Amino acid sequence: MPFKMKKIKSSLVISAIMSLILSTGCTTEAKGQEPLPKGEDLRIVVATDIHYLSPKLRDGGEIEKYVYENGDGKEIGNMDLILDAFVEDMRKDPPDVLVVTGDLTLNGEKKSHEDLAKIFRKIETFGVQVIVTPGNHDISNVYAREFKGDKVDYADTVSPEEFEDIYSDFGFKDAVKRAEGNLSYLYKVSEDLYIAMVDSAVYKNNIENGYPATEGIVSQSSKVFLEESGALARENEADVIVAMHHNMMNHTTFMNAGFTLENAEEMRLLFRTQGFKVNLSGHIHIQDIHFTEEVTDIVTGAMSVYPNKYGIIDYSDGMLEYATKWVDIEGYAKGKGLSEHYDFMSDARERFKVFSSVRMKARLEGLIDEDSVSRLTELMGEINAYYFAGEKVPADVFDDSLTELLPEDDRTRFYIEDRKSGDLYENNSLIIDLKKQGN
Ligand SMILES: [Fe+2]
Repeated sequence: MPFKMKKIKSSLVISAIMSLILSTGCTTEAKGQEPLPKGEDLRIVVATDIHYLSPKLRDGGEIEKYVYENGDGKEIGNMDLILDAFVEDMRKDPPDVLVVTGDLTLNGEKKSHEDLAKIFRKIETFGVQVIVTPGNHDISNVYAREFKGDKVDYADTVSPEEFEDIYSDFGFKDAVKRAEGNLSYLYKVSEDLYIAMVDSAVYKNNIENGYPATEGIVSQSSKVFLEESGALARENEADVIVAMHHNMMNHTTFMNAGFTLENAEEMRLLFRTQGFKVNLSGHIHIQDIHFTEEVTDIVTGAMSVYPNKYGIIDYSDGMLEYATKWVDIEGYAKGKGLSEHYDFMSDARERFKVFSSVRMKARLEGLIDEDSVSRLTELMGEINAYYFAGEKVPADVFDDSLTELLPEDDRTRFYIEDRKSGDLYENNSLIIDLKKQGN
C-alpha cells in the first residue's frame, strides 16, 4: 500500500473537539478527528499482548532472567528489539491505523506505559493513527514490579485516568463516542468504517482485592455504547469492527475460564442485533480464528510470544481481508548488523519449545521413563510451536506409541490428542463481507 499522509489526524481540530463534547445518556459524543472520505481502501494493522516492560525496570540480571525463564514465553528482554523491528515494518509499509488490543504492559507498570507511548508516537510519525484499549494486565495492577540485579521492587502502576492520559493521542482524544465510566470509545477510520474499541478489562477492585482480575466483561455502559455505535453506523451506512482484549467465544477445549468474556453469549446476541460481524481480540496468546453464531472472533497471537506476529486487515468496499505477518526481526537485525539476532526466529522457536513444555516435563518425571519424558517434551514443544502460530500440526509430528504411555485420563495426553484432531478453521487468513448476513 502506498504511503498515505494522514488526512484523519488533524491536530487543528483537537481543541475544538474538547469543546464540542456533548452528553447523551450513558455515552458521550464528540466531533472526533476528520475521518477519511467514503470509498477509500484502508489498511489496519492489529497487534496485541505486547507485554512491554520498560528497560528502566529491568537490567538483564538474575531476577529478570528468573522471571523470564519461569514465565509463559514472553520475550521480556527482547521486546525492545521486537518493537524496533515492528516500528521498521510500520515505517516501510504504514497502515492507516494500528489497533492494539490490550496487555500493552507486563504488569501495568507506569514507566512501561510511558515508554510504549513513545514508541507509538514514533509510529504515528509515519502517518499511522495508533488506537489502544487496555487488557487485564494494564490498569491498577498491584503486581507491577521492577527487576534489578537479584532484587524485586514495587513499581508504580496506573489508574484508568492515568492510562487515558498516557494514551490520549492513541484513540481517546479522537474518539467520536465514549462509554460512561470506562475506556470504551468509537473511532471513525473513514466515513465507511468505524472501530469500536471496547474496554473489557475488570480492574475496579484490583487494589482492594490485592490481585489483578484476569476475566473480562462488557459492562452495561459499554453495551449501550455499542448499541448507539451500531445505530450511528447504520444511519451513515458504515461498517463496524469491534476490538477488545477478551475473546467473544471459546477458542480451546481446555482453557477458557478468564479468557472468554463472562457475558460472551449475550455479546454475540448484541453483535447479531447490531449487524457486527467481527471482533478483534488477544489475551489467549495463540493465533486463532473462530466463528460462532454469526460472529467471527479473530484472535491475533501475542506479539511478545513466538512467532511474534501481527495481523493486517485490508478493507475495501465492505470486504475485510485478514492475514498475519511475523515481525521482521531478522531483517531488522541484519540491517543494523546485530549479528547475535540473525537467527532470531529459530532461536526463539527453540526457547518457546522449552517454555511451553517445561511444566509438563517436571510433572511427568518419575511417572514414565526418562527417555520417554525427553521425547514427549520435544513432541509437546513442536506441537505448541505450530499451535501458537495458528498452524495445523503436521501429522508426522505426532507419535501415538509415545502418547499411549500416558494414563488415559492424563491431561497432557488429552491435550496432544486434542491438537491431533486439530480444528477445521484457517487461523491466519480470512475474507469476510461485513455487509452480508450469515457469513
Ligand atoms: Fe490478557
